[in-house]
Amino acid sequence: MSKTILILEGDGIGPEIIQQAQRVLELVNERFQLGITFTHGLLGGAAIDATGNPLPEDTLAKAKAADAILLGAVGGPKWEPLPMAQRPERGLLGIRSTLNLFANLRPAILYPQLVHASSLKPELVSGLNILIVRELTGDIYFGQPRGVRTLENGEREGFNTAVYRESEIRRIGKVAFDLAQKRGGKLCSVDKANVMEVTELWREVMTELGKDYPAVALSHMYVDNAAMQLVRAPKQFDVVVTGNLFGDILSDEAAMLTGSIGMLPSASLDENAKGMYEPCHGSAPDIAGKNLANPLATILSAAMLLRYSLNAADAADAIELAVSQVLDQGYRTGDIYTEGTRKVGTSEMGDAVINALQGS
Ligand code: IPM
Ligand code: MG
Repeated sequence: MSKTILILEGDGIGPEIIQQAQRVLELVNERFQLGITFTHGLLGGAAIDATGNPLPEDTLAKAKAADAILLGAVGGPKWEPLPMAQRPERGLLGIRSTLNLFANLRPAILYPQLVHASSLKPELVSGLNILIVRELTGDIYFGQPRGVRTLENGEREGFNTAVYRESEIRRIGKVAFDLAQKRGGKLCSVDKANVMEVTELWREVMTELGKDYPAVALSHMYVDNAAMQLVRAPKQFDVVVTGNLFGDILSDEAAMLTGSIGMLPSASLDENAKGMYEPCHGSAPDIAGKNLANPLATILSAAMLLRYSLNAADAADAIELAVSQVLDQGYRTGDIYTEGTRKVGTSEMGDAVINALQGS
């Protein structure tokens, strides 16, 4: 059966890391006869430069038609002077929201080979396996009203609105409870219910939903405490569910526990498990085009794509095994390099994964 993957390279290191992930996908496509065809589109700064729009119609049409989307990263200093509504990030947020990709899964898994690359002590992080479930299409990211206005005294005031409907909380809650049920049976819902009404409602809805999941141990934590607990005793967490803004912040923090944000993939899914897959890290303009970026988060995102949207678990397993093998072999990009390992660039890391796949 033929499947279409839309590739969006984006900006900064996007094209380099995507190139490696596409090589890997092409290889497993042949090996496992997946029948994948690739299409390409522009998003973010690259799209602004070519069309003036961070999310061109053509990209949106291709995204709707595709079975899954693989994205590099968007943004960079070049486009920062643009008004908020025209920036590269708007393209990313627009595609998430238009396609209803409300469930963002961000697994923070520590590869045993990288235990010394973590900023925490090995005993705190070894065996770490957290799944952050971040709501991705609501909250202060999208709430209205928003803007900057000028007050009567001439002073400017910026404002955004944090807002969640019960139905939005319930649908992300269901995703998180279902996943917790399949994993370690623990779900921690993170909010700021002591200060914000919107998350007081969040807590109420999560508690109600918990009654349908007697096998899942639900706990609640304020976001400030959660940020602290993540670096104090991260292994207490199994699945964490939270809103868009808190999830953005906590997932970067969790990523660092695993050694590098350069290792973390993500999936953004709609109600039917159609999804967009992207590394959790950004476009890293400072190292773009220098063959320094770690392509593993993107390669692992491709594995998630195969698993969740293409139902190709064998191919996903093979990629994940190959990544583990290259780490065993000592290959490291700069972000995960520790003494005694072998420092390589983006394309050499891609070669190593391809070799591991061919050898298996
Ligand atoms: C992420 C990123 C994005 C976000 C930016 C690039 C808009 O930080 O995917 O975590 O804030 O969601
Ligand atoms: Mg982020």
